[in-house]
Amino acid sequence: MQSGPKSRAMYKRAVQSIPLGVNSNFRYWGDDQTLIIKRGDGAYIWDMDDNRYIDYRNAWGPVILGHAYPSVIANVEKALKMGNVFAMTHELEIRVAEQIRELTGVDLVRLTNTGTEATMHAIRFARAYTGREKVLKFEGHYHGFQDYTLFNCQPPIPGVGYRRSPNMIPHSSGIPRVLSQLIDSIPFNDEAIVEKKIRESWHDLACIIIEPIMGNSPGILPKPGYLELIRKLCDEYGIVLIFDEIKTGFRVAKGGAQELFNVRADLVTYAKAMGNGFPIAAIGGRKEIMREIGYQKISHGGTYSGNVVATAAAEATLDEIASGALEKVEGHGKKLMAGIREIIKRKSVPALVQGPPAMFGIVFTEKSEINEYREWAGSNHHIYNAVLSKMMEKGVMPDKDSREPWFSSASHTDEHLGITLGVFEEALMEVIEKI
Ligand SMILES: Cc1ncc(COP(=O)(O)O)c(C=O)c1O
Repeated sequence: MQSGPKSRAMYKRAVQSIPLGVNSNFRYWGDDQTLIIKRGDGAYIWDMDDNRYIDYRNAWGPVILGHAYPSVIANVEKALKMGNVFAMTHELEIRVAEQIRELTGVDLVRLTNTGTEATMHAIRFARAYTGREKVLKFEGHYHGFQDYTLFNCQPPIPGVGYRRSPNMIPHSSGIPRVLSQLIDSIPFNDEAIVEKKIRESWHDLACIIIEPIMGNSPGILPKPGYLELIRKLCDEYGIVLIFDEIKTGFRVAKGGAQELFNVRADLVTYAKAMGNGFPIAAIGGRKEIMREIGYQKISHGGTYSGNVVATAAAEATLDEIASGALEKVEGHGKKLMAGIREIIKRKSVPALVQGPPAMFGIVFTEKSEINEYREWAGSNHHIYNAVLSKMMEKGVMPDKDSREPWFSSASHTDEHLGITLGVFEEALMEVIEKI
């Protein structure tokens, strides 16, 4: 989809000062396609040309309640008058830590600012606690822009190599080569491979970091028993299991994927939905590890960690989550999934609608299941991109990147869902007819 004249003009201004005109590479859609956004309200966002979109990107997940959500704005407005950082603990930090413990069942919590920081700190905690250095991750899993895990996030096929011994492909230049010696990555959802890897390499393994549901390859769920097997092997070999719940936390259930699958991790990272879009993140975990944080023990810090505005946003957001917001989010996702399944069946289009309702994905494929990144990579992205581009022209905006799930929010209504399904069907038909 081409951006409108005002977006294009402002984009030209943006590139004078900002590389690619965006503050995160993933936001760049092309010089004539990158939209400049004016504002958001509830389920909608508007671009500079006043085109209105029903938003399912929701900023890649954080906006769980809806844009400019009244109770969050009210709490933030109140907080703005208090001053923001003191380099000392404020009551709001205690309150948010208590809310996180109540909702998720983690023993202890440290607050930080972004998902990237949370995973970086969690990995340090695991390395310090175990005295080991290596990290095991999974292909297609993304843990933020820290260098330790920025390998095989979206690796090229076939460059990533043989399933049983994949090559480590950095996501960017500038990542020290030596870090590739501290990481291993294997395909997700393959019990034999994960068991072999752990039994062979546990001596060096500090932690296994995993997206329990793949939020960066559209909503791929763990096979029954897979997380349980990893949990069991981590217990057997003293490896710290880190659930990266930056996308799933406070979205797929109040207690996130831990609650959904009834599997407890040793450390859990949260961000996105906990602040409805304000920059706040958390590392939660077992007291045996978290109580080791301290002087001459494990380091953690940050000038802005637990700042007043972010914690005020989190307090209000977590209150909404505690009192029923996720039921709405899930209900909306369920209706969309059912509607899309009905359309693709009626139109005989080979596609899968998969994942948890609060962050589901669509994959155009003949396969009956997609269980890992390599299978997703082999699906028909051309159709997905074309359909999504047409949907955006018609005012409905899931992300164009088929790795990204559709994120429903509490502000979507049945009317939005009805419009979305109508637009999906129209866009699909226009694309299919041209093939
Ligand atoms: C699973 C996961 N972990 C970590 C991150 C990084 O979070 P942030 O962008 O807040 O640094 C993301 C971001 O999308 C993510 O999806």
